[in-house]
Amino acid sequence: KQGLQVAIDGPASAGKSTVAKQVAKRFHYVYCDTGAMYRATTLKAMSTNVPLDDDDAVSAMLEETTITFRPADPVQRVLLDGEDVTMAIRSEAVTNNVSTVSMLSNVRAELTERMREIAQAGGIVMDGRDIGTSVLPNADVKIFMVASVDERAERRFKDNAEKGIHTPLDVLKTEIETRDHKDSTRKVSPLTQAEDAVRLDTTSMSIDAVVNRVCEIIEQTI
Ligand code: C5P
Repeated sequence: KQGLQVAIDGPASAGKSTVAKQVAKRFHYVYCDTGAMYRATTLKAMSTNVPLDDDDAVSAMLEETTITFRPADPVQRVLLDGEDVTMAIRSEAVTNNVSTVSMLSNVRAELTERMREIAQAGGIVMDGRDIGTSVLPNADVKIFMVASVDERAERRFKDNAEKGIHTPLDVLKTEIETRDHKDSTRKVSPLTQAEDAVRLDTTSMSIDAVVNRVCEIIEQTI
């Protein structure tokens, strides 16, 4: 089998994107960060004063919005209407507001459509919250990646330190828990493990070990 669709879902800061990027590289697949699409939508709504909880208003805005990825090393760039927002979509403000926007059903339908187009040709590793359950229910490989909230807050803390951000650990932990709660309890395609997904608890695993495990699962499917 050639050019598989690989779906990697799980809660915030479970290591999905780090792993997905490396797995994609190994198989020469495209990597698609679907969280970046919700983040870019949120950023634009915030900076153009579109109410974040207004599905019609945000959907209308989306009709005139392009979100694209540009391959680059070491980090793939995210372009919003042609402008590089790779860093801007990681701000605290966007992070803490994105779950409000991702609750909107028309917004989800539109972004889901765009994701399916990107994944359609296969040879893709897509990470998010609802890829295995809703975006690509027929994906060849589905991984559900989890880790304890303490471990995830510590990983985020270390990532932040490298970027010169010093949010206290307990604040990060609360932010992660709040976002997971919103993502898991929303009405439309909430964060949940697909029945046919392989669950990977990465709490005490190294990145390399997780990458190797996912690659093994892909090899077995090819
Ligand atoms: O993965 P990341 O933390 O960048 O995702 C940001 C937010 O986008 C999530 O907290 C969630 O609200 C939303 N999201 C989603 N469905 C996806 C990917 C992300 O609802 N497939």
